[in-house]
Amino acid sequence: MKNASLPLCGAFTVGEVDKRIFGSFIEHLGRAVYGGIFEPGHPQADEDGFRTDVLDAVRELGVPIVRYPGGNFVSGYNWEDGVGPVESRPKRLELAWGVTEPNTFGTNEFIKWCKKANSECMMAVNLGLRGADAARNLVEYCNHPSGSYYSDLRISHGARAPHNIKLWCLGNEMDGDWQIGHKTAYEYGRAAAEAAKVMRWVDPSIELVLCGSSNGHTKTFGDWETETLSLAYDKIDYVSLHQYYDNKTNDSASFLAKNMAMDDFIHTVISICDYMQGKLHSKKQINLSFDEWNVWYHSNNDPVERWSFAPHQLEDIYNFEDALLVGLMLISLLRRADRVKIACLAQLVNVIAPIMTENGGGLFYQTIFYPFMHMSKYGRGTVLQTPIACGRHDTKEFTDVPDLDGIAVRSADGEQLTVFAVNRDFTEDYALNIRLLDMEGFVPAEHIELAGFDLKQTNGFTSAPVRPQNAALPEMDGNTATARLRPLSWNVLRFVKRKDA
Ligand code: AHR
Repeated sequence: MKNASLPLCGAFTVGEVDKRIFGSFIEHLGRAVYGGIFEPGHPQADEDGFRTDVLDAVRELGVPIVRYPGGNFVSGYNWEDGVGPVESRPKRLELAWGVTEPNTFGTNEFIKWCKKANSECMMAVNLGLRGADAARNLVEYCNHPSGSYYSDLRISHGARAPHNIKLWCLGNEMDGDWQIGHKTAYEYGRAAAEAAKVMRWVDPSIELVLCGSSNGHTKTFGDWETETLSLAYDKIDYVSLHQYYDNKTNDSASFLAKNMAMDDFIHTVISICDYMQGKLHSKKQINLSFDEWNVWYHSNNDPVERWSFAPHQLEDIYNFEDALLVGLMLISLLRRADRVKIACLAQLVNVIAPIMTENGGGLFYQTIFYPFMHMSKYGRGTVLQTPIACGRHDTKEFTDVPDLDGIAVRSADGEQLTVFAVNRDFTEDYALNIRLLDMEGFVPAEHIELAGFDLKQTNGFTSAPVRPQNAALPEMDGNTATARLRPLSWNVLRFVKRKDA
């Protein structure tokens, strides 16, 4: 057994967790909408055609905000196609994913679904083939109370109260040449600034996300952020980051260190935002929206029939090591909770997702469901500085990788303290000694773990073995709690304040 120590001090904090860091994403892609959240005629569909089994699962996962409707899809989307009487909505060739879009589900249906899912909508506008005009009309349609063309149109479509959508994405991955209407940094920066200006004139209360780079390794990364920010800095609130990791080389040690690259990516984007703030002598600080993140590679070569409707697309089946990396990525997001205010696990149902459904049938929870659910449930409050001292190792791709990674969060009412930790060591148990320096009266309440599985073990419809279990509670000695972290494990160590403390 190896030893590690973690001194925790309530006075040394990173920042408050914005609950929107536990967001997710529904795109018109594959079976995310059709056959995922929406399946009229399914035995468990409600009066709106929403699958109630999926709604239950989403509520259990705990997703306070969902980005919609894309993704690459949004850059070719006419939002007007998805509102009004369903029978008059056009069927379109959907160019981003090569399928047919029937538009039987659109903005008003999604807002209704969000309410049932205890969630809010993060709406993306099309800055690919469209621009400021369509974007400001959509804000008017969604958020203006009444008495104008688009607000009255919404009311005529049965939505009397405004949707009051607060958070808006200015397009999607506009730096990528795969994007419909792909732009240079100058073209996009200008388009985003003009769209932002008129969208905010319609509703000054909205918040806006500028597209950053599609990942941290593009040729234009850095230059893209600098130039677009120089054109739109005063008009936007957040810059987006997207990143997916894979284990195509089947090198699990390197795979489980990939959140270190995510830490660097976040750090670099924060630095660029702050550089631009200084350069522009601005009082405004730009924060981060990590609005696409996950593991994605298992389904990359799956064939899709061209112009089909809601095919099985991007249906990655996740294994145990994917769940460990998803836990580690969540740790990285919370580690910079001072600047990462929004993050979206991409995606939510069927498409690179924690929840998988069968058309007309049941559903199962993927391995990655659990770390996300744990963090969303117990990871809200104040992030504490979490300096774990432990052994280190090298992998083929990374050097000096800490065997353990973790993050501690104290709940807003001060009554709960949770340490999330991953043991990356392949063979050794770790004894993690947590010293509660200035936090009196906490006692161990629960140790939940995901451990003991083959790294390639998956879940499915007929059997879902990868699920959390309860482990032995940490032992308390004075103000030190010692927890046993098994090799290759995800751990949730919960402490609560004693009633008399
Ligand atoms: O989430 C799947 C796709 O990945 C999104 O449509 C796009 O934004 C990204 O490249």
